[in-house]
Amino acid sequence: MIQSDAPANLTRRGFLGMPILLSGVTRPSDTLQGRAALRGITYGGAVAYAHLQDRDYRAAVLREMKMLVPENELKWESLRPSPTTYDFTKADALIRFARVHGKHIRGHCLTWHHQFPRWYTSVVHAGNASHILTDHIATVVRRYAGQMHSWDVVNEQVETWEANVDGIRVTPWLTLLGYGYMDLAFRTAHAADPQALLVYNDYALELNADWHAARRQRVVRLLQDFKSQGTPVHALGIQSHLTPDGVFDPAIFTNFLNHVAALGYTIIISEMDVVDKTFPADIARRDAMVADVYRRFWTAALAHPAVKVALTWGLTDKYTWLNTVRMAHRADGLSVRGLPLDDQYHKKPAYEVLLNAFATAPMKK
Ligand code: G3I
Repeated sequence: MIQSDAPANLTRRGFLGMPILLSGVTRPSDTLQGRAALRGITYGGAVAYAHLQDRDYRAAVLREMKMLVPENELKWESLRPSPTTYDFTKADALIRFARVHGKHIRGHCLTWHHQFPRWYTSVVHAGNASHILTDHIATVVRRYAGQMHSWDVVNEQVETWEANVDGIRVTPWLTLLGYGYMDLAFRTAHAADPQALLVYNDYALELNADWHAARRQRVVRLLQDFKSQGTPVHALGIQSHLTPDGVFDPAIFTNFLNHVAALGYTIIISEMDVVDKTFPADIARRDAMVADVYRRFWTAALAHPAVKVALTWGLTDKYTWLNTVRMAHRADGLSVRGLPLDDQYHKKPAYEVLLNAFATAPMKK
């Protein structure tokens, strides 16, 4: 008997009571989330509350994604209008939307060197930084305790080029509280929600390029430090914003995943998309090249047993952050096409490649 998991109004009983899928309706197992789930993988990505007003966007998110990550709604800039107040309006609404539709939700991010509220630099100093940091983390994490799959507790603290101390980026939290601020942040988050998976999240760890190699080494050393200090870190978030800065080499990437997994960490592909600025303007050729990057990256990533969560930083080119930043800007002025659906919500070759990568991935334990 074919189990139909489509909502009742989408099927009608046919011959011998067999369910018949009404035309134009996607079978759940033919969606990214459905196909991933068949292999024990969770697919999802960044979602912006403001865009949920767009009916087509909402329908695509609900159809394709099992895990939602607030793109900006859980960042300090959004949550902290003043040093003594919190505004959870947008975060609550997005988390309610996720729960109403049976979606997992992931928190992003509790500490970072971007998107500070305007008051931060004039208010936070060495004398109150620890209190302000721990109060924020405890308040935010406790509010959603038991509801979050995971939290990015520390985001992008490794830096091997710009201002850094031994490969650790010089950020306001590091300057005010020292290297130990990361241990403090993770312990505070763990105390507030012992069930949530706590994640160190970073970028430029995927390609065969010297600076990516230096960053991979520094991230592994940081993860070893956390382990030796007993810092409650459970996973590494590998952002995977794939740029033309280097070639993706599956063997090198798999070797890195092996190192991380050998330290006992689970791995989340947390923000995947493709910067296509060096690809030709022709849509068919460009989409085919983006799809090829998807195929080589996701085949290697999903082959690793420690990778069970696969996230893209958005779903449709219509709302990608890549169209708002200079580093992804195309000289021809055309919009970036780095996500599975185009700006009309049509499935691109990258979508089909990702669907197939899920279908051919080893079953996750
Ligand atoms: O909310 C304000 C709005 O009130 C104002 O009118 C508008 C115009 O300036 O700006 C809005 O804020 C923007 C915010 O996104 C919400 O849309 C910020 O200017 C803009 O900088 C911010 O961009 C976000 C970016 O992080 C900030 O660095 C992107 O949406 C978001 O996709 C991006 O995500 C990061 C991850 O958190 C970490 N990893 C890299 C990734 C890409 O940079």
